Amino acid sequence: MKKILVLHGPNLNLLGTREPEVYGTLTLSEINARLVETAKELDTEVRTFQSNSEGALIDALHEALEWASGVVFNPGAYTHTSVALRDAIAAIGIPVVEVHLSNVYAREEFRHKSLLAPVCLGKITGFGWRSYLLGLQALIGS
Ligand code: DQA
Repeated sequence: MKKILVLHGPNLNLLGTREPEVYGTLTLSEINARLVETAKELDTEVRTFQSNSEGALIDALHEALEWASGVVFNPGAYTHTSVALRDAIAAIGIPVVEVHLSNVYAREEFRHKSLLAPVCLGKITGFGWRSYLLGLQALIGS
């Protein structure tokens, strides 16, 4: 059975009420429940974790090395700033798919740059909560 970590970065705990016109109306728990459900049908275990803190996200990536075959990661704003998260992804060496609810390329220019994408297996952006689903399917198929 595959085991996948779904990791959510800063401010994603506020999904449902945070800028719903950009991020949709589903809460983080609702998204997580859908992913766990879909994964079960594909004989895959999904564990989820959210943190607003860069260090806790790095720790979760390190711990994933012990048990996960891949990571679906929405790094939020850290996508555009974090050398430390990029180094953590490169260090663990298991496939990570970067996902975003919004289409970052249709937004402010500072969101066009990802420090993490070059060390990820791939990137999915702009499909709302289904970006996570597509990331999960990509990892299960990889
Ligand atoms: C986001 C896009 C980021 O630019 C932003 O900082 C977020 C959410 C997304 O899922 O669309 O927090 O990662």
